[in-house]
Amino acid sequence: MSILRITGGKRLSGEIHIHGAKNSVLPIMAASLLSSGETIIHNCPSLSDVDAAMKILRHLGCVAEKKDDTVYINSSTMTNCQIPDGLMREMRSSVIFLGAILARAGRAVLSMPGGCELGPRPIDLHIAAMRSMGAEIEEHGGNLICSASGLRGCRIDLTLPSVGATENSMIAAAGCQGTTVITNAAREPEIRDLQDYLRELGVPVSGAGTSIITVEGIDLSKSVKRVEHRIIPDRIVAATFLSAAAASMGKVDILGIIPEDISSILNVFTDMGCSLNVGKDWVTIDAQGGFRAPKPVVTRPYPGFPTDAQPPLMAACLKADGTTVLVETIFENRYRHVPELRRMGADIRIDGRVAMVSGVNKLHGALVAATDLRGGAALAVAALAADGTTEISELKHIDRGYDGLVESLRALNADAERID
Ligand code: UD1
Repeated sequence: MSILRITGGKRLSGEIHIHGAKNSVLPIMAASLLSSGETIIHNCPSLSDVDAAMKILRHLGCVAEKKDDTVYINSSTMTNCQIPDGLMREMRSSVIFLGAILARAGRAVLSMPGGCELGPRPIDLHIAAMRSMGAEIEEHGGNLICSASGLRGCRIDLTLPSVGATENSMIAAAGCQGTTVITNAAREPEIRDLQDYLRELGVPVSGAGTSIITVEGIDLSKSVKRVEHRIIPDRIVAATFLSAAAASMGKVDILGIIPEDISSILNVFTDMGCSLNVGKDWVTIDAQGGFRAPKPVVTRPYPGFPTDAQPPLMAACLKADGTTVLVETIFENRYRHVPELRRMGADIRIDGRVAMVSGVNKLHGALVAATDLRGGAALAVAALAADGTTEISELKHIDRGYDGLVESLRALNADAERID
């Protein structure tokens, strides 16, 4: 069992370069199935979710290799259209492969992704979108059996702006006949990154970043293009380091980011009284003078405050001056890390979707366990602000989304080590 041991009390200082976005890489890896060509993805983080996506591609018969931060995919050899249960469970967002396999092979068999640590994570919108493009989908013994003799473009009205359903629809639409218009689409920056990749494949797509996305499907089956794509920086990792810098009352340069993509996050830290200096692709946060509780923070689809940034922010607010009100509107069970934070002396009350975080003078180190990816990151942030040593177990959750977390923390002067 691996643990992350952090002894708090050191102010973070120095600079951190933010790695590529997990939530961009995964749909783009799935979309690489659309053509029979090669895809080279740069700025790809080393994460267990990326490893799982590579395993899925290999299981489908493709070549998928990673060297440093570059992934090479050759999907000309795809032979299989089924993802077994074990691989589906390894990566919760593996349903993102549905649209790509269906568009490429006309058939897809996936096991139903069960519930997850954030509460039930339905895929009804993904299924409805594929059906409206002409797919027939049945459920047998926990498997989704999907077939389509030829997907066709259509209008997809999403009842809520699901990130995954928007991406699955875009990917399937790229490989089908005719024009698809997706309304109430998610507007996250990762959707824009997927649009850029699809355009590099030659697919006319427009509207990413707005609520209406139009995709002109093209016949990619004979496309043997070689596409190179660079992944955008990870907004949530940036939010985590902003939280860590604040929690430790430090001063950190966060480099390689797209500041406009994190403006809702930057606004909260400004509201907390942290001093922010924002450049073209960097931000410096200075929290050496302490910070106060921000105005209530409500998680919303982009451009609102991201649900994934809420747990690390909560951890930073544990030692804020005053009480922070957080309202989680995207996922149930997004407060599973709260009992762990309480073991460290946090004063948090939960009432349904609302968390009230009262700042305390002292947090103390404790033995805690990561409950999910961002909840695990929150424990690391809190540990930086605590007196004494915290040991975090269940690192498999954190490894899904943070590449080299310990090395980055150490480079920022934190007393952190990983014990495998
Ligand atoms: C993506 C991100 C995840 C982030 C989330 C919200 C990836 C790999 N993951 O997840 O990190 O937390 O966006 O920003 O990009 N819903 C339905 N039916 C569906 C699909 C979703 O009801 O078919 C609901 C979900 O239960 C949730 C809400 O829609 O309440 C948003 O989910 P969605 O945007 O789909 O999140 P993911 O794409 O799974």
